[in-house]
Amino acid sequence: MEKVLTIEHLKKVFNEHKTEFEAVKDVNFSIGKGEIVALIGPNGAGKTTTVSMIGGYLMPTSGKVTINGQDVWGHKQFDHSGVGVVFGGELGFYGRATAYDNMAFFSNLNKITRRQQKQEIHRVLKLVDLDNVANKQVQTFSRGMYQRLHIARALLGQPSLLLLDEPTNGLDVEVATQIREVLHNLAKDKGVSILLTSHIMSEIESMADRIVLIGGGEVKEVGALAQIIKKSSVHHIDRPATLEESYLALAPELRRK
Ligand SMILES: Nc1ncnc2c1ncn2[C@@H]1O[C@H](COP(=O)(O)OP(=O)(O)OP(=O)(O)O)[C@@H](O)[C@H]1O
Ligand SMILES: [Mg+2]
Repeated sequence: MEKVLTIEHLKKVFNEHKTEFEAVKDVNFSIGKGEIVALIGPNGAGKTTTVSMIGGYLMPTSGKVTINGQDVWGHKQFDHSGVGVVFGGELGFYGRATAYDNMAFFSNLNKITRRQQKQEIHRVLKLVDLDNVANKQVQTFSRGMYQRLHIARALLGQPSLLLLDEPTNGLDVEVATQIREVLHNLAKDKGVSILLTSHIMSEIESMADRIVLIGGGEVKEVGALAQIIKKSSVHHIDRPATLEESYLALAPELRRK
């Protein structure tokens, strides 16, 4: 399978109060075209740190991030043309401006030409089902609409890779389902590769093609749901084990030493 993202020996050491802390020790994995990969692990495992280094927000201490064959940290400036990042929340937009105007602001930063701008903004707003409210002030939006607007922003310029840190955190069941559908369709219909983090095991069960289990800054397991379940040795006679049960069985191995 064609690799869209490859991470090799990714490491991040934070220096605080003269003590070094290895938040991410040696993370390796890759993502193919149109694949959805979920990064899971305990609080503090290094998921957000990893996503930040792939998305260009945080410079790795060492290691390599390759997106579409390009070494993205190999230049003076991070080359973010192939990647869209969604950290979410209710910040990051100008509340009194419309959804359209907010997207126009970001498309200018994104080097989208004036000629393409209008079409591109409507394209991304349509993908997240917000085109009907393009002319509404963003401050009137619900949390779910904000989250979809974040995804729209990340999709400007048609990146082949989308990174999402806990995309459905704090959303109601219906809205979370809608977000999952948007992401699923992007991957399966448009061939966008997706890396997401989540603590919601049912979400990962329903969405992820592969799972990367991370603990203490290290990858402990990579595989499809069935492989992770097999690894955990959780069995039932009458039904398959769930990811949550398997995760709990593996949890002691995921603790930071
Ligand atoms: N800027 C920073 N300076 C120092 N330590 C940091 C910094 N950012 C993160 N850390 C530490 O690195 C470790 C990994 O943090 P990270 O946010 O990546 O975890 P996470 O897996 O995303 O956790 P959660 O599930 O809670 O979101 C944590 O121990 C955290 O305290
Ligand atoms: Mg995090």
